[in-house]
Amino acid sequence: MRRVVFNQKGGVGKSSIAVNLAAISAARGVKTLVVDLDPQCNSTHYLLGDDANNPESDIRDFFEQTLSFQLKPTHPEGYVHRTPFANLALIPSHPDLGDLQSKLESKHKIYKLKDALETLMESYQAIYIDTPPAFNFFALSALCAADRCLIPFDCDDFARQALYSLLNNVQETREDHNRDLEVEGIVVNQYQPRASLPQKIVAELRGENLPVLETLIPASVKMKESHTAAKPLIQLAPKHRLTEAFVSLYDELHQGKK
Ligand SMILES: Nc1ncnc2c1ncn2[C@@H]1O[C@H](COP(=O)(O)OP(=O)(O)OP(=O)(O)O)[C@@H](O)[C@H]1O
Ligand SMILES: [Mg+2]
Repeated sequence: MRRVVFNQKGGVGKSSIAVNLAAISAARGVKTLVVDLDPQCNSTHYLLGDDANNPESDIRDFFEQTLSFQLKPTHPEGYVHRTPFANLALIPSHPDLGDLQSKLESKHKIYKLKDALETLMESYQAIYIDTPPAFNFFALSALCAADRCLIPFDCDDFARQALYSLLNNVQETREDHNRDLEVEGIVVNQYQPRASLPQKIVAELRGENLPVLETLIPASVKMKESHTAAKPLIQLAPKHRLTEAFVSLYDELHQGKK
């Protein structure tokens, strides 16, 4: 299972959702890997805390290596770091990742991540990919490498227009590059049940037959606390209602599936 969490809009919850679902997966005994493709390094900081500043190797080293003519390429496991959490590993990102983008594009390295993750599937049962807030080379690489795609949405009326073009982009990527890619659904994040606009937007999206998942993730300050503590919710506050929502989301996504 290789799940990408993607939305080209910033701040909708991609990193929070990728890390927290991955942490639940790991806590259930599934060998899980998070791949951080965003130069903001938010997932990297979330999982490694202060150790995130100088990891020995990261996703930038991986992409750099695909551009070199080294005779003996490094096994992708060489970029994987342990985290403080059982069964949970990470390929960290790097703030200068973006510097490689035009070279990677011009040399057509779009399937390199897919090849690496296929090799890593021998060691990890679940891989979660966090993406940058742009439909760029790294997001496209992730969509080529994944077999499931989850789309966070923050109930903002402006974001709604972007949602249609996003779904089109994902479908087009599926047709052009990756027939295995399944859109699992739209995850509504920071949902405020007492406000009328979010309720209306969710009802309308469902009315248009868009794949809005049942589980709505509430807004809670626990999320910021969890980022600051560098501890996923399942570790920090297993009984909290925000954590329970993530567990429901995980179960909804895995109903009838492995
Ligand atoms: N359910 C939630 N409740 C409260 N705050 C949340 C929730 N989900 C995310 N946040 C907060 O919103 C901010 C953006 O979340 P996050 O970094 O996960 O989004 P993102 O889509 O990965 O952003 P970017 O596009 O910048 O990578 C963070 O400060 C996070 O703590
Ligand atoms: Mg992010």
